[in-house]
Amino acid sequence: MPHNVIRFLRRGFVVEMKPSSPMQTVLDYLRLDEKSKGTKEGCNEGDCGACTIVLGKLQNNRVVYEPANACILLMGHLHGRELITVDDLARDRVLHPVQKAMVETHASQCGFCTPGFVMSLFALHHAGVKPDRQMIVEHLAGNLCRCTGYRPIIAAAENSCDGSVLDHWAAGAAQTARTLHMLQDGVDVLIGNKEQFLAIPASAASLCELVAKQTDATIVAGATDVGLWITKQLRDLPQLIHIGNVVELHSVSDRMTTLSIGAAATYAEAEAALCALAPDVQNVLRRIGSKQVRASGTIGGNIANGSPIGDMAPMLIALNARLVLRLGDKQRDIALEKFFIDYGKQDRRPGELVWRIDIPKLKEHEKFFAHKISKRRDQDISAVLAAFHFTVSGRKIAGCRLAFGGMAATPKRAAKTEAAITGLNLDAPQSWAKIVAVLEKDFTPLSDMRASSTYRNDTAKALLLKALFELAGENAAALRLNIPTSYEVVA
Ligand code: FES
Ligand code: FES
Repeated sequence: MPHNVIRFLRRGFVVEMKPSSPMQTVLDYLRLDEKSKGTKEGCNEGDCGACTIVLGKLQNNRVVYEPANACILLMGHLHGRELITVDDLARDRVLHPVQKAMVETHASQCGFCTPGFVMSLFALHHAGVKPDRQMIVEHLAGNLCRCTGYRPIIAAAENSCDGSVLDHWAAGAAQTARTLHMLQDGVDVLIGNKEQFLAIPASAASLCELVAKQTDATIVAGATDVGLWITKQLRDLPQLIHIGNVVELHSVSDRMTTLSIGAAATYAEAEAALCALAPDVQNVLRRIGSKQVRASGTIGGNIANGSPIGDMAPMLIALNARLVLRLGDKQRDIALEKFFIDYGKQDRRPGELVWRIDIPKLKEHEKFFAHKISKRRDQDISAVLAAFHFTVSGRKIAGCRLAFGGMAATPKRAAKTEAAITGLNLDAPQSWAKIVAVLEKDFTPLSDMRASSTYRNDTAKALLLKALFELAGENAAALRLNIPTSYEVVA
């Protein structure tokens, strides 16, 4: 029999409860039901970090703490986790080390952002490492402060996160691990009725069976997108199936020639393996969302939703990734680029799930470049995402895969430009500007608030030219002055 409640660890006790609806957010639960109002609501869309809470989860039998945006986190995500909020940190009127550091460095003025910063610092404190400034800045990129300024907040991080973890949670880690282990009992959760339900299958078999029966239900992984359907589009999603408790879907399998990532693996879980694919994958990955978003968001969810401006899909298409889909106990695999049929339309049949992504690793003569162009460096949506995969033979390009986001209704390859570039001489840059101009035959991008059509076209050409120069190395750089200035390289 499935459980008819969700169960999570809170302040040392196991809470068993039925959310008020499948769509109830953790922020609404905290502020409206529990009356824990330390956690603030700012943007309500996962951007500002005011609502940051920390989730504890078991990973390799130890408890790890990750920040999350409570405004777009659904109650189903708490099942089997520990929930920690800013209201829990001080004990017997003694501040937690991160709170004390925030006070001592004068890191708060109006205070609205402060609970979120404190919780991000709590997660960093529990990372158990001494972070350098760059790591601190990256860790706090999902928390916005509009009056204090970041210098004292960074100082608070430097003063309170030194690798030693000596707080109440560290002392109770063994007991927490036992409780979380007990909560992962392999039993499904089903709350509600046929019309309105929250389901959290505990195994691949029960997930596939349920999805095949409930083909209209909404599948939820990290809810970094689905959360916005609820809080911003005010959509009614009465039937929700969470996939995050199926262990198999979190697998990150790093083999000799292929990296395979399960559909529910979060960006944080897959980060190390993805970054090892190529330096530019790492550069782009660091700018996808924020620490909070990468701790919840999944690569599978990013693909399944088919966003034309998702950052991961163009890189995976350029890398020649394949998608494994599962319907019941049957699997099929397709080239990722074939999955995106049109805007909002993917090649996913009723009851079928995105199951796994297989990414071939680069071989010795293959090179990969990727660039994200957005108005802000952190926490922004791309105007253009360009990903280039070249196969080089001597001083010639023997083949290539050029994929873009933000240039069409779906992430898309530049087929005509690929044909034009194949055979390109890396010692003859005079001809390149003409070749990259073929991109205009591949794409007719839109103008919108992120960029004009002209900007997108020019940027795509400049990025491709930049990649060719990087590929060619010193020889071509010496001849760069011969390139028409309208296609000047983006710095
Ligand atoms: Fe802004 Fe949640 S309220 S991220
Ligand atoms: Fe006012 Fe940060 S202290 S927004």
